[in-house]
Amino acid sequence: MAKYRIAWLPGDGIGVDVLEAAKIVLEKLQLDTEYVPGDIGWEFWRREGEAFPARTIELLKKVDAALFGAITSKPAKSAAAELAPALQTKGLTYRSPIVRMRQLFDLYICLRPCKAYPGNRLNFKEGIDLVVFRENTEDLYAGVEFAPVPLELAAVLEKLAKPFSPFAKLAPEQYAISCKINTRAGSERIVRAAFEFARKHQRKKVTIIHKANVVRATDGLFLEAARSVAKSYPEIPMDDANIDAMTMWLLKNPFNYDVLVAPNLYGDIISDLCAQMVGGLGFGCSGNIGEKLAVFEPTHGSAPKYAGQHKVNPIATILAAKMMLDWLGESDKAAQLEGAVAEVIKEGKVGTYDMGGRNTTLEVAQAISAKL
Ligand SMILES: NC(=O)c1ccc[n+]([C@@H]2O[C@H](COP(=O)([O-])OP(=O)(O)OC[C@H]3O[C@@H](n4cnc5c(N)ncnc54)[C@H](O)[C@@H]3O)[C@@H](O)[C@H]2O)c1
Repeated sequence: MAKYRIAWLPGDGIGVDVLEAAKIVLEKLQLDTEYVPGDIGWEFWRREGEAFPARTIELLKKVDAALFGAITSKPAKSAAAELAPALQTKGLTYRSPIVRMRQLFDLYICLRPCKAYPGNRLNFKEGIDLVVFRENTEDLYAGVEFAPVPLELAAVLEKLAKPFSPFAKLAPEQYAISCKINTRAGSERIVRAAFEFARKHQRKKVTIIHKANVVRATDGLFLEAARSVAKSYPEIPMDDANIDAMTMWLLKNPFNYDVLVAPNLYGDIISDLCAQMVGGLGFGCSGNIGEKLAVFEPTHGSAPKYAGQHKVNPIATILAAKMMLDWLGESDKAAQLEGAVAEVIKEGKVGTYDMGGRNTTLEVAQAISAKL
């Protein structure tokens, strides 16, 4: 029996291409693993009315980790229109399989390391090395949304919240409400994860990102929870910044920052900014991590226009595989893989179109594999 069982979830579009590339390097590393393929994504929505089939959920309960490519998702109306004719009348609603996966398996940490590998001509500045901890299950992604707004809800809000009065007289379909829900426990555990990481890797500072001066209830709670957690880590400096100021400061002086931790939506925004500073979508990798399961993926989507062309950069996915190796405790193999990626980037001889090269997805993976 193999040492590990890894769920292999290519998904849609270029997800298939980049996972094929990741397999090349993992096989070269001779990881003692059984790779178990799983169904996820748009095709399963169209054919079965379920983008995250029950069999895939069962599979994820029985693996050590998962590597995920990307999925296509579309707005509600297009989703309904693309369903197989026999499913059109069943009243099915499309839900993002990624958001569901994060919530079902309580993958509360979204970890996004953003490192500028030396010599990458896409680096905003050499030497950038940031790590983003994004809360992954709460906040504006809680999924509690109303459009149109039920009259009962409007009546309660009018009674309880004075600032609601300008909206109270609107017709239900003239506005929408998305609830931002943050819990003390959820805020504390993501901040604790960031501090634990900082302690383990001797990082110089943890920065809390919020907008507590305006979004007082939820972000106020997040900041308060963060300050209380920070007391257990007196040796690690902590500061905090508003999300808007943070985007500016990060661009102005990325070297003032190290580990960043944020509620879900701000974490999403800031991690895209950080990824762009170290080469963009072709380099952005991510781990969705819970207590029992972790799912690793590139941050990019399914880029349908490049699907099946083996044109896109596999490095984001190969770095996600490196994160997976670290999580499994295979730190030597993880370090070897990162070293091989860094070498190929530094040499600058092999690269996909976004790196200014002409090589295919698989050629880049083979070049990395050759360094192992
Ligand atoms: N995690 C995910 O699965 C995920 C994330 C984002 C978007 N999506 C979905 O993907 C679909 C396409 O979305 P999109 O076009 O906004 O975003 P995208 O990330 O798929 O692609 C945007 C553009 O970025 C470039 N790009 C992306 N990945 C690249 C790579 N590895 N190498 C080089 N260039 C790369 C391409 O030019 C591409 O057209 C949508 O259906 C969207 O909902 C999925």
